[in-house]
Amino acid sequence: MTTPAPSAPRWGFVGSGKMASALVRGMIRAGTADPASITVSDPIEAARTSLAVETGTTAAVDNRVVAAASDVLVLAVKPQSMAGVLEELRPAVTPEHLIISIAAGISIATLANGLGTDPRRIVRVMPNTPALLGEGASGYCLGPHARPEDDAVVRSCLDAVGLSFRVAEPLLDAVTGLSGSGPAFAYVIIEALSDGGVRMGLPREISTALAAQTLLGAAKMVLETGLHPGQLKDQVTSPGGTTIAGLHALERAGVRAGLIDAVEAATKRSAELGRG
Ligand SMILES: NC(=O)c1ccc[n+]([C@@H]2O[C@H](COP(=O)([O-])OP(=O)(O)OC[C@H]3O[C@@H](n4cnc5c(N)ncnc54)[C@H](OP(=O)(O)O)[C@@H]3O)[C@@H](O)[C@H]2O)c1
Repeated sequence: MTTPAPSAPRWGFVGSGKMASALVRGMIRAGTADPASITVSDPIEAARTSLAVETGTTAAVDNRVVAAASDVLVLAVKPQSMAGVLEELRPAVTPEHLIISIAAGISIATLANGLGTDPRRIVRVMPNTPALLGEGASGYCLGPHARPEDDAVVRSCLDAVGLSFRVAEPLLDAVTGLSGSGPAFAYVIIEALSDGGVRMGLPREISTALAAQTLLGAAKMVLETGLHPGQLKDQVTSPGGTTIAGLHALERAGVRAGLIDAVEAATKRSAELGRG
């Protein structure tokens, strides 16, 4: 854990739900932000109070109070609540605020319009649920009026709960289709591997744990060795052995094409929802 720099920004979270809670806890755990520099709000008293009490942050009833108390304002409400939140925040937001939105499908242009006619420093983020455990994967893009130094501020938040990558805004749909929807694809793979183990006689509990830990271990091998997944696959595939027999079955079933199609379908749906 590091100590935040003396010039560290003050953070405000509008919405104290699951994702805001993951980000606040992750930033405090990583030493990115001091709890005393964080203000959170939520219409549900229990949500804002429990987050504030559990993390040592300050709860505010009024979103404009959060804006006044922060340099970085994270909009962590559901997309359907965003229009009202932007309208409410419009008079309270200044050119000095960095606005970070994590709402799925809401474009930088829509956020900027909702905040008025003055140029605003806006960053749009697409996180995913494993952020709740500090293992998130996020894509983000900087709006046209964001400052170069805003990149590091956003990353200090996202990297506290996993990995993050900067992309151009149109690619956020692909991020949604891959890492946003991806946990569900991975759950299906884990469940199916577990079914395979049960079919071959393993107890369900052991089978599911073996399947999940195998995916976790393989993912760490990819991230920590930096080797190409194909190279790692070749390393565990001996001639005439068990793994090549299984791989042949996977190829016959079209598993690769199925996963590519899944990411494509989810990306297209994200773009459709964004337009709607
Ligand atoms: N969870 C994910 O996996 C995930 C992944 C990617 C992106 N996101 C995005 O992250 C955002 C937050 O998701 P979440 O899962 O954290 O949702 P959540 O748990 O429902 O949290 C949103 C919170 O914001 C509150 N809120 C609503 N209107 C508000 C207002 N006017 N002022 C202040 N707070 C307000 C909600 O209260 P009420 O319950 O009363 O409405 C709720 O407690 C969403 O836009 C979602 O698209 C989430």
